[in-house]
Amino acid sequence: MQQNYKEALKDPVFNIISDAAAELSVDCYVIGGFVRDFFLKRNTPKDIDIVAVGSGIELAKAVANRLPKKPQVSVFKNFGTAMIKHQGVELEFVGARKESYHKDSRNPVVENGSLEDDQKRRDFTINALALSLNEKDYGALLDPFDGITDLKEKRIQTPLEPGITFSDDPLRMLRAIRFATQLNFEIQLSSLQAITAHKERIKIISKERIVDELHKILSSIKPSIGFSLLHQTDLLAYILPELVALEGIEEIEGQRHKDNFWHTLEVVDNITPHTDNVWLRWAALLHDIGKAPTKRFDKKIGWTFHAHEFVGAKMVYKLFKRLRMPLNDKMKFVQKMVFMSSRPIALSQDHVTDSAVRRLVFDAGEYVDDLMTLCEADITTKNPNKQKKYKNNFKLVRQKIIEVEERDHIRNFQPPVSGAEIMKAFNLEPSKEIGIIKEAIKEAILEGEIANEYDAAYTFMLKKGNDLGLKVVKKT
Ligand code: CTP
Repeated sequence: MQQNYKEALKDPVFNIISDAAAELSVDCYVIGGFVRDFFLKRNTPKDIDIVAVGSGIELAKAVANRLPKKPQVSVFKNFGTAMIKHQGVELEFVGARKESYHKDSRNPVVENGSLEDDQKRRDFTINALALSLNEKDYGALLDPFDGITDLKEKRIQTPLEPGITFSDDPLRMLRAIRFATQLNFEIQLSSLQAITAHKERIKIISKERIVDELHKILSSIKPSIGFSLLHQTDLLAYILPELVALEGIEEIEGQRHKDNFWHTLEVVDNITPHTDNVWLRWAALLHDIGKAPTKRFDKKIGWTFHAHEFVGAKMVYKLFKRLRMPLNDKMKFVQKMVFMSSRPIALSQDHVTDSAVRRLVFDAGEYVDDLMTLCEADITTKNPNKQKKYKNNFKLVRQKIIEVEERDHIRNFQPPVSGAEIMKAFNLEPSKEIGIIKEAIKEAILEGEIANEYDAAYTFMLKKGNDLGLKVVKKT
């Protein structure tokens, strides 16, 4: 017997769609993410997919006419789809189709088909579930590939032979891994094997779409699920080879270094409860990428990764450029985090001095808290004593940051004495002395020799000018 889920269709918009479809004598169904997420009790959707056995575009126009305010219909003729924005939700309409794809592009050759033809051509059984919007069986579940069981058993599999589904649209390889990560589902073995077999086809997918999926993986609770699947299927080598290069443990003369790939995945998982900022999560993912090209073995000191933070920050730029990610302040933020990623660690191993904390705050500026969050996530030692010690040290550093900040206001440092005032005090034309004095004032503040305030800085400036042989002009 067909199950009925009318309760999923409480939103009055479904009645409007149903009436519009009846008027056009077209059958229609809600399908895809909306239905899947209803069964998973996930949050309210941002888009709702409607499939019409007939013209999706005509149905969209008829629906728009019936909606209050008659919203605009965006028509994508080439794809035979149309979209209406209604109460913040995108209603996507498509005609049911049988489709086959060209080998070298994602653009399908479309032919009209039945609902089942359309379901067959969808990516996963859990995304092929449909609920009827037709009067005769409103709310009936149409599930020819038993997606319901896959939902219950937390399984991702394709409705057709996986090779067909993935070569039809190779983006689906990433989608499978992304859904496995977001939902904590398993990818069925033959689907997983098909991903490995078709991995090269990822090359025809645009960088923007790949990055979109990476963002979604990184935004999940446990991104390591996705990155280890990407690695297991070899897709990672096409997308982020810099990470693959971190895998492995080498041993020379009994000295080993840690496996920086698996360490990185732990760091990413560690940071997720502490930040929703996807760029900070990117920083966690990339914080060690400079370690592969800088790895050396030294007989006296063992394994070193000298200047890996500097090299890593440069690699961030190249990686963002290659993946067509924004080369803006987001990229600079990730670079800064990677570049500074060892600073708090170095600091917390020593006695934490005020001046070291001031320098950290000065260099990290407004991102000092993000940097601390990254460094805390970077603690992956399995030794409970060390784990405790490092955590306590970071607590201390955080405490000191607050104290120093309250007193010295270094975070958004503005020189307390301006260049113009220095020029006026010594009657100087623009010259290198001004830079020297400004730098000396900043250093004196960071070292704690003087307070970060005008009078102290002015007195210090007079003394420094005197040391440089400059004469003070009488104040008028
Ligand atoms: N779909 C597909 N192949 C793709 C993309 C999408 O078969 N490469 C189908 C699936 O049936 C999917 C539906 O189109 O459920 C809608 O796609 P989309 O809005 O991208 O994803 P959702 O499943 O809605 O999930 P999410 O919003 O979480 O991405």
